[in-house]
Amino acid sequence: MKKIAIVTGASRGLGAAISQKLVEEGYSIISISRSENSTLHTIAADNDQSYYHFPCNLADGSEVEDTFTKVYEKVNQPDTEEIFLIHNAGTVAPIHTVGHLHHQTVTDSTQINLISPIIMTNKLLKITDKKVTIANITSGAAQRPIEGWSVYCSTKAALNMFTQTVALEQETAGTPHKIFAFNPGIMDTDMQGEIRSSSEEQFTDIAKFQGYKEDGLLRAPETVANIFVSLLLDTETESGVIYQINDFLN
Ligand SMILES: NC(=O)c1ccc[n+]([C@@H]2O[C@H](COP(=O)([O-])OP(=O)(O)OC[C@H]3O[C@@H](n4cnc5c(N)ncnc54)[C@H](OP(=O)(O)O)[C@@H]3O)[C@@H](O)[C@H]2O)c1
Repeated sequence: MKKIAIVTGASRGLGAAISQKLVEEGYSIISISRSENSTLHTIAADNDQSYYHFPCNLADGSEVEDTFTKVYEKVNQPDTEEIFLIHNAGTVAPIHTVGHLHHQTVTDSTQINLISPIIMTNKLLKITDKKVTIANITSGAAQRPIEGWSVYCSTKAALNMFTQTVALEQETAGTPHKIFAFNPGIMDTDMQGEIRSSSEEQFTDIAKFQGYKEDGLLRAPETVANIFVSLLLDTETESGVIYQINDFLN
């Protein structure tokens, strides 16, 4: 393996589209999620690229630790030139106002959206001497409060701050590593389906989000993935920046 992309949440939605695009750009893929996307396996074979799936529940700290020990053994090889680590897996749950949240869902969501990316980034920077680029998929919800999404808004805001802090540390240390965040905007994925299937009691903005789908305003994940991968491959992309998809659209 030479150029490797580790993608969390590659099984569907944006993660699947990013993985497909990266395979076409000549990257081997390490996919991490609970379920596997068998189409990716075929696409990788058709493009003569390696593809490995590591099943992992990112809400489970010990599974994350075990999985990433195995993943990093695989990628940290003498012939590896470059490593991308793309923290894409995410959950919008729990959707409800504070006072109605389930403890376990809050814990799981924080683990998936924030703690796993922190643990995985820490572990990779500790063990590798390869050039690493880390991309964190964030959300517009990181920058504005949305009723019913307190945990999602908070974890994505914290992910942005983590991105900026690590970038500063790496710059001070003079490493070649880069870390940035990318807000993909609203996309036609299962996550939007979950949002639409909540209730007005849980989520006051539900009609607006139902309207996004009815009015065809949700972007295809493939369109977003093309923009994201161009940014990832661009040597001018800056560390520490929270990129917004709107800045790349006409
Ligand atoms: N969709 C939007 O409108 C939108 C807007 C702004 C930001 N985003 C962000 O974009 C990213 C991708 O979202 P999406 O819309 O593509 O979501 P999606 O279609 O719901 O897919 C979520 C992905 O995350 C993985 N995942 C979820 N929980 C997991 C867990 N416990 N363990 C391991 N993997 C888990 C899923 O894999 P498995 O189920 O197979 O485990 C799946 O591959 C997320 O970070 C999201 O916050 C989305």
